[in-house]
Amino acid sequence: MKRLAVLTSGGDCSGMNACIRAVVRTAVRMKIEVIGFRKGYQGLMKGDAINLDSKAVSGILHRGGTFLQSARAIEFKTPEGQQQALSNLREMGIDGMVVLGGDGSLTGALALHRLGFPVVGIPASIDNDIPFTDMSLGVDTALNNILYAVDCIKDTASSHARAFVIEVMGRNSGYLASISAIATGAEFALVPEQAYDLTEICQQLRGRFAEGRDNAIIIVAEGAGHAQEIANSIKDTIGFEVRVTVLGHYQRGGAPTVFDRLLASRFGKKSVELLISGVSGVMVGLSANNMLATPLDDVIRSEKRPHDEVLRMAEVLGI
Ligand code: F6P
Repeated sequence: MKRLAVLTSGGDCSGMNACIRAVVRTAVRMKIEVIGFRKGYQGLMKGDAINLDSKAVSGILHRGGTFLQSARAIEFKTPEGQQQALSNLREMGIDGMVVLGGDGSLTGALALHRLGFPVVGIPASIDNDIPFTDMSLGVDTALNNILYAVDCIKDTASSHARAFVIEVMGRNSGYLASISAIATGAEFALVPEQAYDLTEICQQLRGRFAEGRDNAIIIVAEGAGHAQEIANSIKDTIGFEVRVTVLGHYQRGGAPTVFDRLLASRFGKKSVELLISGVSGVMVGLSANNMLATPLDDVIRSEKRPHDEVLRMAEVLGI
């Protein structure tokens, strides 16, 4: 193996830079050249690449986002787009590639593997819905961002005896909502995986207000409903005044936590080691604190990572 490529694709997350750095540093140590495609598969199809040596990845470990930039490339889903990508890879003399991203990006990696190109995927998405890994890259940082925001909101909520409906990311996954509700002591977590009853929630909030509590926090995953609509339907009936905060893309940025820096470094190093040893078409994952390689075929065919245990725990804790 003489030349490797790396790209970041789909929604960005914190820790991507640290992971690119680990890919480059591991490869350079083994005398392998690295290039980075800009803007994910879009850059791959256009042949838009930069050389990455050890110095090029200095000073990026602690920065959120991805300095290679990212994109959701619809055209790469077509056979023509994939052929174009493949011929660029061959023309540029690239022997293998590391792809960082969520399920769409890993599906793209699988397509290249099926076309005979050596590729290893790294799960990077704040949703934590990718199977065969305990944690995806960026999840821990996103959760810490949410925690900081909810703690701040709780302070001001208490001062004014208000209820807050706080919307977090997760179109199809309630992982961020459930974990952040557990970790902040929120009263409710509304998630796409479970039906909820606003009448029942209002009744409980009224009880809470009558007991003299000074705030209530309702965390809603974006896939479970719009915070403003939920607030509109509970206001005037619960005793508390109601306010809304939509955390949005704030959750995806910021300096990665220690956990994400370390996970990024482990994922990056392992992905290069796998490619060097001739393994392709796998995703690197974290399993019981070990690095695990799972065929991308299994990752893509499997159900999304379930969060039943977290949901049950939230219930036991009265959320
Ligand atoms: O998949 C990651 C994610 O952050 C989701 O939680 C969110 O719904 C989506 O990306 C937002 O995508 P975009 O940045 O394209 O608006």
